[in-house]
Amino acid sequence: MGLVLGIESSCDETAAALVTTDRRIVAQRIASQEAEHAPYGGVVPEIAARAHAERLAPMIDAVLSESGVELRDLDAIAATAGPGLIGGVMVGLVTGKALAMASDVPLLAINHLEGHALSPRLADPDLAFPYILLLVSGGHCQILRVEGVGRYRRHATTIDDALGEAFDKTAKILGLGYPGGPAVERLAREGDSTAVPLPRPLKGSAEPHFSFAGLKSAVLRAHESGRYSAADIAASFQQAAIDCVLDRLTRALDTLEQAPALVVAGGVAANQAMRGALETLAVDREMRFVAPPLALCTDNAAMIAWAGCERLPLHAGDPLDFRARPRWPLDPEAQPVRGAGVKA
Ligand SMILES: Nc1ncnc2c1ncn2[C@@H]1O[C@H](COP(=O)(O)OP(=O)(O)OP(=O)(O)O)[C@@H](O)[C@H]1O
Ligand SMILES: [Mg+2]
Repeated sequence: MGLVLGIESSCDETAAALVTTDRRIVAQRIASQEAEHAPYGGVVPEIAARAHAERLAPMIDAVLSESGVELRDLDAIAATAGPGLIGGVMVGLVTGKALAMASDVPLLAINHLEGHALSPRLADPDLAFPYILLLVSGGHCQILRVEGVGRYRRHATTIDDALGEAFDKTAKILGLGYPGGPAVERLAREGDSTAVPLPRPLKGSAEPHFSFAGLKSAVLRAHESGRYSAADIAASFQQAAIDCVLDRLTRALDTLEQAPALVVAGGVAANQAMRGALETLAVDREMRFVAPPLALCTDNAAMIAWAGCERLPLHAGDPLDFRARPRWPLDPEAQPVRGAGVKA
């Protein structure tokens, strides 16, 4: 059995975790920077990097000492090496490199998106490859076929905003503060999802890509019109987002090579209404539906440690001069999408 230390610092969560190759989370700590960024309505990269630098080393100490584990007991140190905010990624990666060098333990430079993509397998030992993955987070909205560790085929992506970003911007428009996803979900429970006419961008289009910028603008116009309550806008937005996801996913499932399971991961996978809608779609398609527990959806270090566990048998470790990658697509073969901006 192997033991891996995971380090996460790509956005606004500082996290460390110890995970075994037989799927036990031995210890984990996570510190959100919500309070630091809240006054600005979003993540400020410099503040994030500084907060990671202050918190990470004591956090790793705590995780190791509460488990009675020494660095030399580890089989690998897995640190997020991208994609994300470069300052924060560098803090975590440099920390991982220093610990690896000092203890002569291999370093695994982990793609944060691979952490999300494999996280459902940490919680569910029965989830085998291949599976169809809807990856919906703060920075990404993709449909992938996960064929094995390191083997990801991207079938769809967003041509503008990510879904989590659309939730966050809706929250900002409605004055719900940051982070927005959970606040929109809470308020949506009190509203009428049919009250506000909102668009379903790209619905029915041939390729299964996503677009949320037009939906966000429509939310802004609805709010400025003064005709709708915040709860009705939140509920109508959430329903429009779910409708878009179901339409695009159905399109993808109709066209791509089949797989036994439909899996959702990333921060927006924490949304209960989204989970319910996806489960119904999976049942209709006679697929198994798998969603990780809520704590594994948003950023955490257990998923990074687990990606390290999955990578352990594949190679001896990454070089200590591995460079942080602010952009790092899961599928390097994926072509840019027509009409897409820099996030393709
Ligand atoms: N209950 C929820 N409903 C909808 N969205 C949610 C919910 N909980 C979290 N989110 C959204 O998930 C996003 C955060 O997810 P995550 O931490 O995976 O993203 P990230 O790490 O910032 O981006 P990426 O993983 O693409 O680099 C935020 O946009 C947040 O609003
Ligand atoms: Mg993330």
